[in-house]
Amino acid sequence: MTFSGAGVVITGGGGGIGAAFARRFAAEGARVVVADLNAGAAGEVAKEVGGTAFTGDVATEDGVTRLIESARETLGEIDVYCANAGIAPQGGEDTPEDVWARAWDVNVMAHVRAAKLLTPRWLERGNGRFVATVSAAGLLTILGSAPYAVSKHGALAFAEWLSATYRHRGLKVQAVCPQGVRTAMLEDTGPAGDLLMGASAIEPSAVADALFAAIDEDRFLVLPHPEVADYYAARATQPDRWLGGMNKLQRKIEQALGDPS
Ligand SMILES: NC(=O)c1ccc[n+]([C@@H]2O[C@H](COP(=O)([O-])OP(=O)(O)OC[C@H]3O[C@@H](n4cnc5c(N)ncnc54)[C@H](O)[C@@H]3O)[C@@H](O)[C@H]2O)c1
Repeated sequence: MTFSGAGVVITGGGGGIGAAFARRFAAEGARVVVADLNAGAAGEVAKEVGGTAFTGDVATEDGVTRLIESARETLGEIDVYCANAGIAPQGGEDTPEDVWARAWDVNVMAHVRAAKLLTPRWLERGNGRFVATVSAAGLLTILGSAPYAVSKHGALAFAEWLSATYRHRGLKVQAVCPQGVRTAMLEDTGPAGDLLMGASAIEPSAVADALFAAIDEDRFLVLPHPEVADYYAARATQPDRWLGGMNKLQRKIEQALGDPS
């Protein structure tokens, strides 16, 4: 698989995993549009990889439309679209409505809105690639953030649906599902995130390596932490045992950090 000259768009490309994707696609010869809410961060990464920065909010329909129109002007064809921007608000069922809505818009609807604009052209030419940065939380769950766990399940469901519906028409889809990755997002999860994911956290470049291995093998699921495959199987075959294990982890966090009740 060569990406020499390919047009690649990466949302949330100003930092963390998105920046690692930008570096890797550029190293493979792609022309990259680095899109981010943070203009300075997008500009820095774009400069580093010889790409083009785009500043905007992919949580809105208008923002996604502007990004795709602008990227088409810059790149001609968009060959690869990495729907990578994501947010992880902490909180449970009592998370405010607007925070739930924002998580849904950034983590799920941004993917749907981009696909709506990209698929007609991809199906016409019989070729396109949609890379969804999901999370192991989309296959399993995550303690401490109901909006993240729920919306990432939605993102995975949408990526599966795209692949199931359009694979025979040339649309390739990857769903990237890491556990902890050393980025600003992981830092923001505080001591609970550190307790849950700190020890096994990997560098963003390792996520890019896992993505490229999956692309080479034409594989949908990208698991930078291979042990997630076993947890996923356990969840499917022994759901009560798996939930019991997750609840044990919850109690461990409460003991370490203080009982929330
Ligand atoms: N860090 C982890 O442990 C981890 C694990 C699994 C999955 N992920 C997923 O990886 C993706 C990237 O996360 P990261 O860890 O690199 O986080 P990060 O916070 O380091 O980077 C995310 C980038 O996305 C940008 N962004 C956020 N909302 C945006 C919006 N509405 N429009 C445009 N840009 C926006 C931010 O400005 C930031 O530059 C997310 O989807 C996240 O859920 C992260």
